[in-house]
Amino acid sequence: MSGFPVRRMRRLRANERLRALVRETSLDVSRLVMPLFVRPGKKLRRPIPSMPGNSQLSVDELAKEAAALDRLGVPAILLFGIPDKKDAAGTAAYDDAGIIQQALRAVRKTAPHMLVITDVCLCEYTDHGHCGVVVERRGRKVVDNDRTLELLAKQAVSHVRAGADLVAPSDMMDGRVAAIRRALDDAGFADAPIMSYAAKYASAFYGPFREAAESAPKFGDRRDYQMDPANADEALREIALDLDEGADIVMVKPALAYLDVIRRAKDRFNVPLAAYNVSGEFAAVKAAAERGWLDERKVVMEVLTGIRRAGADIIITYWAADVARWLKET
Ligand code: PBG
Repeated sequence: MSGFPVRRMRRLRANERLRALVRETSLDVSRLVMPLFVRPGKKLRRPIPSMPGNSQLSVDELAKEAAALDRLGVPAILLFGIPDKKDAAGTAAYDDAGIIQQALRAVRKTAPHMLVITDVCLCEYTDHGHCGVVVERRGRKVVDNDRTLELLAKQAVSHVRAGADLVAPSDMMDGRVAAIRRALDDAGFADAPIMSYAAKYASAFYGPFREAAESAPKFGDRRDYQMDPANADEALREIALDLDEGADIVMVKPALAYLDVIRRAKDRFNVPLAAYNVSGEFAAVKAAAERGWLDERKVVMEVLTGIRRAGADIIITYWAADVARWLKET
């Protein structure tokens, strides 16, 4: 009788091999995606102040970076473009000679096996910084959903034509997955999968990204099209719609304040699920670590394991390269 059941929970924690044997969640580099920012120019690495260690890269530098990530074992990159010219319709987004299209062709040469995902959205390409075409309605400026769809579809086709493996629409217009799917199929790209930012919240955690991508809206905010942080049932409806429209992978974004949404999405739908560990989540830990307030490596491993435990199959994170390095050391 002695010792039972008092010791029951500690028996399996006695040493690292035993802990590893019973571990429920693993963090593997094969699950990680590294976001990268590409801008015009040559031999340019312009550091992003609020995202230490990350830079806006010119096409040649980006191609080198992709090769380095490939050597580290990072399987995939997610590309964001900063064009040389912005206009009201985001024309540079669907230009076959655009910045992302150039980057895709360059990466194909330096890292032929890299899985290249492209962000499909107009906010980096519009002069007003919104994710679609802006019109006036009853004296108020709003993003026109249906006119935007056509442009997003053109952008996605242009990306795949230039070599993108997957397209990731992040705009949150209704019906964009169907519009993109149809356009890709019509262009002969029925094999190109769509990873949709299905449940994308209107989050203050995107702050550093907007500096990085130079995409902060010039007026208003994105609450017309991004989700209210108070809602989780709605996230499941968004995901269901995107799956109906043909999404192959769905995403919840950001990750940390929405772990419950990740879990519910995983339990409800048997489909590949991605979570985006966004710029503000990255910046907050970086800032604390720089002050010596947190141990970055330990916190990052804990955070990413937590996102996996919540149910994410794929994690998009600015720490992908660091984690690849850390996992090699251990
Ligand atoms: C573009 C887009 C955003 C992010 C990814 N795609 C910003 C936004 O919606 O304002 C954010 C990523 C991050 O914060 O790391 N629509």
